[in-house]
Amino acid sequence: MSSLLAFSLLLGSALSTWANPVSRQVSYSETLKAAAAPRYFGAALGVPHLLNFTHDPLFDTDAVLQFSGATPENEMKWAYIEPERNVFNFTGGDIVAAFSEANNYVLRGHNLVWYNELAPWVETLTGEDLWNATVNHITTVMTHYKESFNLYCWDVVNEAFNDDGTYRENVWYTQLGSDYVPNAYAVARSVNAPLKLYINDYNTEGINNKSDALLALVQSMKAQDLVDGVGFQCHFIVGELPTDLEENFARFVAAGVEIAVTELDIRMNLPPSEADIVQQAKDYATVMNACTAQGAACVGVTTWGITDLYSWVPSTFPGTGYALLFDDNYVPKSAYNSTIYALRG
Ligand SMILES: *[C@@H]1O[C@H](CO)[C@@H](O)[C@H](O)[C@H]1NC(C)=O
Ligand SMILES: *[C@@H]1O[C@H](CO)[C@@H](O)[C@H](O)[C@H]1NC(C)=O
Ligand SMILES: *[C@@H]1O[C@H](CO)[C@@H](O)[C@H](O)[C@H]1NC(C)=O
Ligand SMILES: *[C@@H]1O[C@H](CO)[C@@H](O)[C@H](O)[C@H]1NC(C)=O
Ligand SMILES: *[C@@H]1O[C@H](CO)[C@@H](O)[C@H](O)[C@H]1NC(C)=O
Repeated sequence: MSSLLAFSLLLGSALSTWANPVSRQVSYSETLKAAAAPRYFGAALGVPHLLNFTHDPLFDTDAVLQFSGATPENEMKWAYIEPERNVFNFTGGDIVAAFSEANNYVLRGHNLVWYNELAPWVETLTGEDLWNATVNHITTVMTHYKESFNLYCWDVVNEAFNDDGTYRENVWYTQLGSDYVPNAYAVARSVNAPLKLYINDYNTEGINNKSDALLALVQSMKAQDLVDGVGFQCHFIVGELPTDLEENFARFVAAGVEIAVTELDIRMNLPPSEADIVQQAKDYATVMNACTAQGAACVGVTTWGITDLYSWVPSTFPGTGYALLFDDNYVPKSAYNSTIYALRG
């Protein structure tokens, strides 16, 4: 409590008193969030980034004020938030949530049931014991963040499918069958009925076997009032976006759910070439246009970070990077401009 409060106070004073040390190419009226409104424009935020800001002369109000949404990059994932059975650690999640609240961001809860970054003890459980632990996890985590921190939605199940459209053989599928998915949403609904419940995945941005399977599941769960939204991660490679992004988004909207772009980044080989930088600007605009074409049903866009400095891309896909809208020095790129122009229409 006291360290969180101290952090909030520190942050509040930093945000109100820090002068802008970097000369910007844009004026304050030109922000991602203003261009995106009434949608939110969010960023994934990690505690290593947030706690580094006092040592980082470039972490300034301008970058923070560009955004109106946040997703904890890792802090609410199972391995960190319930590392041992019924031992919950909300420290990291609370730091991201407090930062989000202090800046009037909407917060995406991310995520509750995912095979990756999963605490190892969960994978040793079987049958009803696994289900009970899952119910306890969903209930405890959602209750902690209930009706606070501008929390707007939860990704309940993340990455349920293989690329061929079959269910991913994670511990829940293996032990409980495909019903684990709707059952998890039913638990989440019972904990916090008004909250938007999302299903989130990658390689579902275009029309293919995986997005067909996701759509069928969404239609089935929507009919039971179990799901409200679909998150399209959008971790893209420059020049390789699906050509039917807009058409695919539209068929999910037609299923009666809202959609969001949840983890956008567009990577390229390093060092970046001029041609790739130009293509990246076009690609970001393509994603924005696919969202705005859905009208109010596309409720927001989140990039997977603010600056390349803290992006997951270079360590995950070695040799690539330059994937976000701000470079290592928080300088906005061509893609930043094209994003704003596209959002404005
Ligand atoms: C903290 O910020 C500095 C200065 O921008 C940067 O060089 C460093 O890599 C950052 N540290 C971490 C842990 O990200
Ligand atoms: C809880 O999480 C925080 C932040 O990730 C970490 O620094 C701390 O060591 C954790 N506490 C325990 C008791 O594991
Ligand atoms: C699961 O929880 C239910 C309800 O609390 C309980 O009756 C049951 O014994 C539990 N099952 C296991 C395997 O612990
Ligand atoms: C897509 O699914 C069909 C069966 O529904 C299968 O024949 C085909 O091989 C799948 N394609 C890919 C790329 O997995
Ligand atoms: C973005 O647009 C501004 C205003 O038109 C311009 O000054 C700036 O050079 C552009 N930045 C890039 C990287 O294209």
